[in-house]
Amino acid sequence: MSVVLTRGRVPRTPHTEFYSEPGVLALEEIHGSAGFSGAWSRKYHYRKYPTQQVQPPHKLTLDLRPQPLPPMPLQPWHLRTGRLKAHGDAVSGRVPLLYGTETFLSAARFEKSCPADRFFRNGDGHELWFVQEGRGLLASEYGVLPFRKGHYVAIPKGTTYRVELESEEAWLLIVESRRPISFAPQYLNASGQATLMAPVVETEVSTPEFRPPRDEEGLFRVWTKHGGGFVTELFLGHHPFDLTGWEGALYPYAFHSDDHHPLAREIHTAPPVRQTFQSGIAPHNGFALCTFKGQIEGWHPRDVPAPYAHLNADSDEAMFFSNTSYGARKGLVEPGSLTLHPGSLPHSPHGLAAKRSFAERGKLSDYLAVMLDTFYEPLSVSRQALAVADKDYPLSWNRDAQGISGA
Ligand SMILES: [Fe+2]
Repeated sequence: MSVVLTRGRVPRTPHTEFYSEPGVLALEEIHGSAGFSGAWSRKYHYRKYPTQQVQPPHKLTLDLRPQPLPPMPLQPWHLRTGRLKAHGDAVSGRVPLLYGTETFLSAARFEKSCPADRFFRNGDGHELWFVQEGRGLLASEYGVLPFRKGHYVAIPKGTTYRVELESEEAWLLIVESRRPISFAPQYLNASGQATLMAPVVETEVSTPEFRPPRDEEGLFRVWTKHGGGFVTELFLGHHPFDLTGWEGALYPYAFHSDDHHPLAREIHTAPPVRQTFQSGIAPHNGFALCTFKGQIEGWHPRDVPAPYAHLNADSDEAMFFSNTSYGARKGLVEPGSLTLHPGSLPHSPHGLAAKRSFAERGKLSDYLAVMLDTFYEPLSVSRQALAVADKDYPLSWNRDAQGISGA
């Protein structure tokens, strides 16, 4: 949804003379996506440009790159992200798990706020978080955005931010895309507004609450991620949250999974009806991200609510299980399980799930899961993910779907 917001003070006409205070020229910066052609915002810095570095940049030893594995057999994967040990903050606590050429999935279980003088800027990817546990504040130059369990948080590439933790720990699934992330366009009308048939509405999207400019001198560090996971520390002599105001359509926002309003059908319906976000131009590139939120299951008298086996040859499918109620994987997954089903393999419900699902006809289900399908982009598993991989998963379908033991 392309909603232009205005926060703080900005000149009515872009690129015109404007003063933070008498005699202090506000310095305009455009934060743009897709070159000069995508969503953008204009920001007015109080008195200093964001280019005014005061010490030479240096590359940190912190390495957020997914480490490649040697060629592995083709197989489905089950990663138990809840078994990662909480450490660090929302940046240093990231563990890269799945990666392609444009799409990257990490989990972060962390226990600290980012230091007050240290900020993060992802130069590699537009970020989309799913908050599995915890709550806090995303503070950026655009303002302050609260998040809690169940929220999606979208952060455009290039945003400067830090995370304040308000709970003992937090647990995020972090999706990064080299391409801009947006709401699913099939649910938007030609004016960019959510249609009356959409599972999302604009009024339930939360946007940053603007804070007065921090016109402060000091030493402020901006950790900038680049090159697929290298991190360079930049040093500014002024606080980076120094905007008199901003206006535009590129800014962080939050959307709660409770506010994805599922659409039901008499018979089983395919995942795109559950789509919340996409990157790039799905289904031609990028990914589609769907919210599997409990809904009224098909009410046809012979409906099979469980999914069918499927082999989507042009998609690799990652699925993050927020709870364990999803019938097709019941008994196998735990909260925070992340599965990867490569496009070149079929996958299906486990064991008796299809027969068991008959009992769900016409009833309200209570699962919560996030599914991400890439398009024409295979995903690989990182070396870091091996520590939480379920080695038995490839053979976990070897239980008869008819209820005959010993199959
Ligand atoms: Fe699937």
